[in-house]
Amino acid sequence: MAQSRGKKGPADRWKEIMFLYNAALRQINAKIEIMNDEFVERFNYSPIEHIKSRLKTPDSIVRKLKADGYEVSIENMQEKLSDIAGIRIICSFMLDIYQIADMIAKQADVTVLYVKDYIKRPKPNGYKSYHMVVTIPVYLTEGPVETKVEIQIRTVAMDFWASLEHKIAYKFEGNPPITLLQELKACADMVDILDAKMFSLNEAIMAIAEAEKEEETEK
Ligand code: GTP
Ligand code: MG
Repeated sequence: MAQSRGKKGPADRWKEIMFLYNAALRQINAKIEIMNDEFVERFNYSPIEHIKSRLKTPDSIVRKLKADGYEVSIENMQEKLSDIAGIRIICSFMLDIYQIADMIAKQADVTVLYVKDYIKRPKPNGYKSYHMVVTIPVYLTEGPVETKVEIQIRTVAMDFWASLEHKIAYKFEGNPPITLLQELKACADMVDILDAKMFSLNEAIMAIAEAEKEEETEK
């Protein structure tokens, strides 16, 4: 029991660190849920379709460090990897993405380390998503520990595309036939069109609803 109090082995440190990432994940998750609930309360509108969160598995941590040419160590894992704790927020519309990102960045205890806006600048393969890497303090008995979380925000359509692309990349070990890549790129263009059309359709519906409300009050 108490014999491990003094000296900590690598296994204890590993456990402590995963505890931190898990706590950070839960804190960010709670913040996002509260933001969404506030939106529902105030505007009767839910900008978030759903949220997925996950901790990177030990296997995948080791694989990533090796692939990036780093020695496998707890220091490197904390320093070099930004997605040990990862959250994906799926929205209906692109406008929601920027609103949510802004609200997250404004939280007093959240520090934005960097942003990669693959919506303004999609990847050559067609990948679109808004990425932010943030830190949030996790309060331990010894004091706060700033802990990294990667947040990906995208629309339902972008998410649909990304999961298919991921499946294909995985299946062909990163080397899919060119025809498939072309098809995927074509699908990415359709995602743009769909997102834009759904957005303007939604705007039109809201305008009609608004006009009806005004008519009601005039009666
Ligand atoms: P890694 O891609 O993880 O090495 O990190 P990075 O420094 O290149 O960061 P980036 O923001 O490009 O990617 C981080 C994460 O975004 C990835 O782990 C994936 O989850 C996702 N992602 C990035 N590019 C793609 C892509 O082309 N397709 C899919 N499906 N997901 C992607
Ligand atoms: Mg990448």
